[in-house]
Amino acid sequence: MSGFFHQPSKALDPESEKWLPPGFKEKMVTHAVKENIDRKRFSIDEVQYFNDTPLFSWVELNINEICNRKCPFCPRSGSYPNQNIHMDIGIAESIAFQLDSLQFGGTVNISGTGEPMLSKGIKEIVSKFGSRKISIEIVTNGDRLRPSNIEDLYEAGLSQLVVSMYDGPHQIEKFHKLFEEAGIDSSLYTLRDRWYNEDEDYGLIYTNRAGSLEQDLKNSQSRPCYYPAYALYIDWNGDVLLCCQDMYNRTVKFANVTEKSIIDIWMDPELSKFRKELHAGERKTSPCSNCNANGMVFGSNHSKAWDKISGND
Ligand SMILES: C[S@@+](CC[C@H](N)C(=O)[O-])C[C@H]1O[C@@H](n2cnc3c(N)ncnc32)[C@H](O)[C@@H]1O
Ligand code: SF4
Ligand code: SF4
Repeated sequence: MSGFFHQPSKALDPESEKWLPPGFKEKMVTHAVKENIDRKRFSIDEVQYFNDTPLFSWVELNINEICNRKCPFCPRSGSYPNQNIHMDIGIAESIAFQLDSLQFGGTVNISGTGEPMLSKGIKEIVSKFGSRKISIEIVTNGDRLRPSNIEDLYEAGLSQLVVSMYDGPHQIEKFHKLFEEAGIDSSLYTLRDRWYNEDEDYGLIYTNRAGSLEQDLKNSQSRPCYYPAYALYIDWNGDVLLCCQDMYNRTVKFANVTEKSIIDIWMDPELSKFRKELHAGERKTSPCSNCNANGMVFGSNHSKAWDKISGND
């Protein structure tokens, strides 16, 4: 992994153009960010259908409300509460069961508002998906990783661990050693350099988390957003939210996966209204009206597929 920023020394290739924000400037994206996007693109951007409906290809789970850090770019640096709340294993099992019955071929990503490795039940949650051969990833700040728990997670069926390195380049060797000790091949984990300062957007595709952080909205208000076309976000209690960017404010909640089937929630006309507006580049409804997220990194195929079935093509 190289630890410096993507420098546009020549014309952008068409693939990159799709996901770089308007007003792209140098020092916007690290190589690690780009490599992780490239790793996921093939799987995320393939559209799977369920009874003629484009299915999500990415499911993000928030499994807890607790973190051991307060990173400056995260709403946890402000007043967001730190709470010892965790997803019930039964909810995870119900989600895995439903995804299995949909023959879901995408990826489940455990990330969310907190630090997943602080949930004692994480191995069991992973196994609910892994045992059904559903691709499952974890995004972590890495602080709680040890060779033994790394080994346990892969044994439970984990497909990929994505580590956010916030402290500095010395962490690269440390994490490689941990994974080596656990006997995990380098293709099965990703280290992302995120130790940069504010001028360098902290090494992130930095967003205001749909209005949770103060940031310039720039030209984002006329920018399409594809998140609700391809991604399903499920909160720790089973609530389905509009998208991962709104995970701190929870402005728009659809139903709960324990009360309504995932596929019925996904086909909710209210959710399709968001898709339609966002496909047309209209971020007019809250929380989109307060959001500066890129929104076009993944999901253009899904957004087109939704547009087609809604009769706009
Ligand atoms: C909220 S964290 C949760 C997982 C874990 N605690 C971690 O930090 O990796 C998920 C991802 O969001 C990133 N992130 C946090 N705040 C962000 C922001 N304002 N804009 C973009 N990405 C952000 C983190 O760097 C991390 O990769
Ligand atoms: S980015 Fe991750 S590690 Fe940092 S405060 Fe937020 S949830 Fe915690
Ligand atoms: S515009 Fe922002 S808030 Fe709206 S769906 Fe996209 S990412 Fe979420």
